[in-house]
Amino acid sequence: MTPTNVYTHQALSDLAFEDGVPYAYFDAARREDPVRWIEEEDGPGYWSVTRYTDVVAVTRNFQEFSSEIGGTTREDIEPADLLARQTLIDTDAPLHTAMRRLLSPRFTPGSVHKEWVGFVEELVEKTLGEAFSRPRFDFVADVAAVVPMVVLGELLGVPVEDRAYLKSLGDEMIAGSDPDHAPRTATSPQNVKENSGYPFSSPAGRDIWEYADKLRDRRRDNLGHDVFSLLMTGTLNGRKLTTRELDNFFSLLVVAGNETTRMALSHGLLAFAQHPEQFRRLKDDPSLLGTAVEEVLRWATPIHHFRRTALKDTTIGETSIKAGDKVLIWYASANRDETVFDDPYAFDIGRKPNPHVAFGGGGPHICMGNSLARLELQVVFRELAARVETIAIDGPIHRLRSNLTHGIKSLPVHLTYA
Ligand code: HEM
Repeated sequence: MTPTNVYTHQALSDLAFEDGVPYAYFDAARREDPVRWIEEEDGPGYWSVTRYTDVVAVTRNFQEFSSEIGGTTREDIEPADLLARQTLIDTDAPLHTAMRRLLSPRFTPGSVHKEWVGFVEELVEKTLGEAFSRPRFDFVADVAAVVPMVVLGELLGVPVEDRAYLKSLGDEMIAGSDPDHAPRTATSPQNVKENSGYPFSSPAGRDIWEYADKLRDRRRDNLGHDVFSLLMTGTLNGRKLTTRELDNFFSLLVVAGNETTRMALSHGLLAFAQHPEQFRRLKDDPSLLGTAVEEVLRWATPIHHFRRTALKDTTIGETSIKAGDKVLIWYASANRDETVFDDPYAFDIGRKPNPHVAFGGGGPHICMGNSLARLELQVVFRELAARVETIAIDGPIHRLRSNLTHGIKSLPVHLTYA
């Protein structure tokens, strides 16, 4: 990278992440310019926040840094469009608190344990059984994509035959400019603009609204224990959700619960393949499962960054920030911060403490699905450690072109079994 583009968005664009996270860039930024102003061609510019302490401080300081004004992604969307697609994640208190309360009882560790352990264990058993029956398989397509998609389908009460379609829409919405996952928008910034009133400025966002409308019609006389039924019947400040609020909640859950967990599983498997001594360690000592899963989450950091917007003149560290300034908080960088994590580029399944920010920096928006995601990861890696002897990567790895999520599109593997 030439010094001239260090301070432009080019250095942090989707393309810059296609061959892997630009860790060297983040290392230098944390050292030399941890709150760095970045010029954009398509916007007013933003502050790039790379140190762990600053990332955590911004996420927790919701009084000064809004998720709602400007939303949580980098692109600047017209306020009317932003409002049309507003979800829990880009809503500030007090409405955020009320929206979150609608669903949060279903996502507590206790509730997840009670409702999901048996289901996830059975699902993982079946999914691994099918994958292991082939000498070689694609870990992303055959395992990492399947488990979260089935869990999410069940959680939302989506019929089995529709789940793959929803996964493909979720992939398209979150895919940045990746030509495989987002063919309708990857080649045409104009198309992105035309769709800016839909979730993630994607035509898939419009499709997902349409799907949610159909699902609501089908479910009206057929309510169940699922989260979609809860959204249909639940109340927000004493009133039912509007059609659009329900559609948007649905679109957020489809995106949030699907690709993130898939990425953590995929990067976890890749890490174990690249660090066979750590896989052996887990096999020899299953009591390391808990810390191993936290290390997989730190290592994978499925979400690279989110955005906030300053509500007033303030500071981040030593740097003055003006009201209205855009701020990008880089979880990808914070999780490699050497002032917090000893030897941060070592994959160490016994790492303790491990205060990673893969689920966010601890503010009010901290990932609502973290217990469910942890459960899925624990069961998959527990079973892999019990049943697999060695893991070899068996072909080219294809990564997603996105600076928002840390995606792997395919991961061919050859395993030997215990
Ligand atoms: C390894 C898997 C996952 C990762 C790494 C992840 C990561 C994140 C991150 C970084 C945030 C934003 C936190 C912030 O802004 O402070 C978030 C929010 C959220 N996540 Fe997750 N997530 C995962 C799995 C899930 C699952 C399985 C679900 C649900 C089925 C889910 C539902 C949500 C929701 C609803 C929010 C918005 C919460 C709010 O705004 O109050 N996530 N997640």
